[in-house]
Amino acid sequence: MYRTTTCGELRAANIGQTVTLAGWVQRIRKMGGMTFIDLRDRYGITQLAFNQEVDSELCDKANHLGREYVIQITGAVAERYSKNANMPTGDVEIIVSELNVLNEAATPPFTIEDETDGGDDLRMKYRYLDLRRACVRKNLELRHKMAFEVRRYLDEQGFLEVETPVLVNSTPEGARDFVVPSRMNQGQFYALPQSPQTLKQLLMVSGFDRYFQIVKCFRDEDLRADRQPEFTQIDCEMSFVEQEDILNMFEGMSRHLFKAIKGIDLPKLPRMTWHDAMKFYGSDKPDTRFDMRFVELMDVLKGHGFSVFDEAAYIGGICAKGAASYTRKQLDALTEFVKRPQIGAKGMVYARVEADGSVKSSVDKFYTQDVLQQLKTAMQAEAGDLILILSGADAMKTRKQLCELRLEMGSQLGLRDKNKFSCLWVIDFPMYEWSDEEQRLMAMHHPFTAPKPEDIPLLDTDPAAVRANAYDMVINGVEVGGGSIRIHDAKLQEKVFEILGFTPEQAQAKFGFLMNAFKFGAPPHGGLAYGLDRFVSLFAGLDSIRDCIAFPKNNSGRDVMLDAPGFIDQSQLDELGLKIDLKE
Ligand code: AMO
Repeated sequence: MYRTTTCGELRAANIGQTVTLAGWVQRIRKMGGMTFIDLRDRYGITQLAFNQEVDSELCDKANHLGREYVIQITGAVAERYSKNANMPTGDVEIIVSELNVLNEAATPPFTIEDETDGGDDLRMKYRYLDLRRACVRKNLELRHKMAFEVRRYLDEQGFLEVETPVLVNSTPEGARDFVVPSRMNQGQFYALPQSPQTLKQLLMVSGFDRYFQIVKCFRDEDLRADRQPEFTQIDCEMSFVEQEDILNMFEGMSRHLFKAIKGIDLPKLPRMTWHDAMKFYGSDKPDTRFDMRFVELMDVLKGHGFSVFDEAAYIGGICAKGAASYTRKQLDALTEFVKRPQIGAKGMVYARVEADGSVKSSVDKFYTQDVLQQLKTAMQAEAGDLILILSGADAMKTRKQLCELRLEMGSQLGLRDKNKFSCLWVIDFPMYEWSDEEQRLMAMHHPFTAPKPEDIPLLDTDPAAVRANAYDMVINGVEVGGGSIRIHDAKLQEKVFEILGFTPEQAQAKFGFLMNAFKFGAPPHGGLAYGLDRFVSLFAGLDSIRDCIAFPKNNSGRDVMLDAPGFIDQSQLDELGLKIDLKE
């Protein structure tokens, strides 16, 4: 037997017992005639003690161990002289009587402790060592627990987990596909699924009724903190349901997760229309941990000779409570922030509400105190508040800029506490959005999303105004999940494809399998998918989903540990019938 006990479980109650432990040497400290070793495994750290005076040979052996050596020891559990209240095993140590080196270890390239000296790249290259660190391991333990609780909840609700294939055809989720060449069908390619969307709909046609799958999805898109090229969805679909049934079912799942994992009782989730989300927060995933809603100021600020505002299609402001003390330097920095190319505002106007209630703005020469007081009223600002205003020729773009400013102010004022959770449904998304790049309407969610029944007549007259039965779950400004009621009528589906610019032949070629399936009795159905990585990273309070993925890709889509992607041999290319000019 390699061990009787793990490194995380010994307590004062075990004093006097003889135990055998195995693990990695985290740290060696010599103090006078004593040598102390912190022994680590997945479960924790236990202190080992060696006494030169009692057994000098054993102590010498301990002194020759190196960091990360794999050892096995046997000894007696003893009360620790100087206890460590920060460690669960901090009351005890093991007086070692036997030491067995199971494996030596090269010096690790960085210290394997929560506070490490290893930079990002180095830790990613040696990710298997990074994963030895408790703070990283904890995220994966949380991930396991969440996936487990998801399965528990969905199983209790009668959902069946069904695996769908990974080698499929292009699926329309709006990103680029990763493709795999076929040897047996030369010149042809599989695409990896961006989601199992069409397959889960086919399972509904098959009568599965309640499906789920915790499943890898692949999207070749630009990476951000909340995006990986391969990520995991909790993918779900239900038959004979309306939007309300789905919202209730998955609000229930979120409630279960919050309770089981965080011990939090989630209140009934508020719902906000997409229209209101854009109007008040400039985002379809508003961070509602704090208020600071947008106020439109066209009526108040237009027509006073300030050309920037007079020519604007949109003027909006936010009120930062208690921030009138911001210095000129801080305000200049905020102006620079909104002028960065990623945000793209031309400038920012500010107004402080002074202690006496008067308003001082950066555009005082255009506005009388009377108008500035109207501004104060519109913004519901009080003494000590700071009003920040953006304007622009494109209302939607300006709202998005104001959204960035609001989030930045929220961060600066400490209003985005990671331990506080604010969840909501955003509903009534538009069916379509205009793509400048493609010069056509695109499906905002995906082309299988059903329009709201009352908006169906608009498909012929004003498709851009059609609202969908589509919804997102948003937590702390992160879209953790999204879905929709699907079209189950082949004729309506054909019409939607037509609006998206597919000819009947193109639609048949791409989605014929689905439209044909719908001819054989498709039940009304709908569903949604959560991003498991995003959900876990929210619960763990992480800044990037990378930290809850065992072996993530970096921002260039590379796995630096495996050095993937890589070149392949000419013989492999030949076998696949691929001709590639291999330029190094
Ligand atoms: P959607 O494209 O909105 O919907 O994706 C669902 C959820 O998956 C997560 N997600 C991602 N997470 C990490 N990295 C990515 N690159 C990434 N892309 C998406 C998000 C998102 O909310 N088939 C539909 C679902 C449905 O209609 O049922 C779909 O995939 O958390």
